[in-house]
Amino acid sequence: MRYSVGQIEEMIYPFLPLENADFPIAAIEAANYGFRAGGKRLRPIMMRLVFDMLYDKSAVKDIKRLNSDELTIRAFMAALEMIHTHSLIHDDLPALDNDDLRRGLPTVHAKYGEAVAILAGDILLNHAYETVARALEERAGDIGAVKAFGRLSVNSGVSGMLGGQSLDVEKTGKPLDAAELAYIYENKTAALIECALMCGAHLAGASDETVALLERAGSDIGIAFQIRDDILDIEGDEATLGKPINSDNENDKYTYVRLHGIEASEARVKQLTDEAVDLIRAIDVIDKEAADELIELFQGLTTRNR
Ligand code: IPE
Ligand code: IPE
Ligand code: MG
Ligand code: MG
Ligand code: MG
Repeated sequence: MRYSVGQIEEMIYPFLPLENADFPIAAIEAANYGFRAGGKRLRPIMMRLVFDMLYDKSAVKDIKRLNSDELTIRAFMAALEMIHTHSLIHDDLPALDNDDLRRGLPTVHAKYGEAVAILAGDILLNHAYETVARALEERAGDIGAVKAFGRLSVNSGVSGMLGGQSLDVEKTGKPLDAAELAYIYENKTAALIECALMCGAHLAGASDETVALLERAGSDIGIAFQIRDDILDIEGDEATLGKPINSDNENDKYTYVRLHGIEASEARVKQLTDEAVDLIRAIDVIDKEAADELIELFQGLTTRNR
């Protein structure tokens, strides 16, 4: 792999909120704890690989522009991981999934209490926008950066992750029809993965046609990712997974796996992944190695254990 998790973390950690210099504030410490706890960093890795595969470095003659492009992609990688981490901190709260383990450590509310965890999540969500706003100050007239900002906002919000989480929570303990189930999977999970792929492409200056292919690939791989998550909630190992198993059952969630069974779910994960891979292969890329790595990453997710 071109990037280790450690290398991706080196790119995104500098954007984290600074702890207060005069006296400690628990919610800022908690936000950093939740973020740094570890995690697969899949969304920033995917964003980076898409950027690399589509960005034409040789066409950029100005070193200042090259540096600014690098800073901007890193700011968006960090922002998306902040939004994702915010979603996890709030998802684990007693009022939502009520889980005490995340990324192999006590959840933020288990360590700092509920009030601090709510604020830590808010801090990360808002800090994501502070981070990209600062990067955008340098990018007047860069339509790719503006489009990436739009995607980050839309896919995180009511028409994306938060919309999906909202219906997921509302329907806890209640059967779902096919349209509701599809809405939850597309939004609570796939929206941020689509966002990773699309932001990487917009920031590389890719065409709208390319971005549309990546949106479809992100939808497929994102839904597959959530179905695999549901399988691991039943079959996984808590220590490897770094979060509790059996959470969906305890919360009486009507997951894809509960409705269709493990075997059909595994087949669906495979089918969606194959579709996503075909979509990536249909894209005209500059860096073929980065595209191959993205494909390898997608394929590895079908059998992931964490
Ligand atoms: C967990 O996401 C939440 C889901 C969308 C299923 P990840 O499995 O990517 O969590 P981390 O970031 O690696 O902890
Ligand atoms: C949550 O789905 C997806 C989010 C937006 C956080 P889950 O509730 O299944 O995620 P995990 O299993 O707690 O990571
Ligand atoms: Mg949940
Ligand atoms: Mg959960
Ligand atoms: Mg889950």
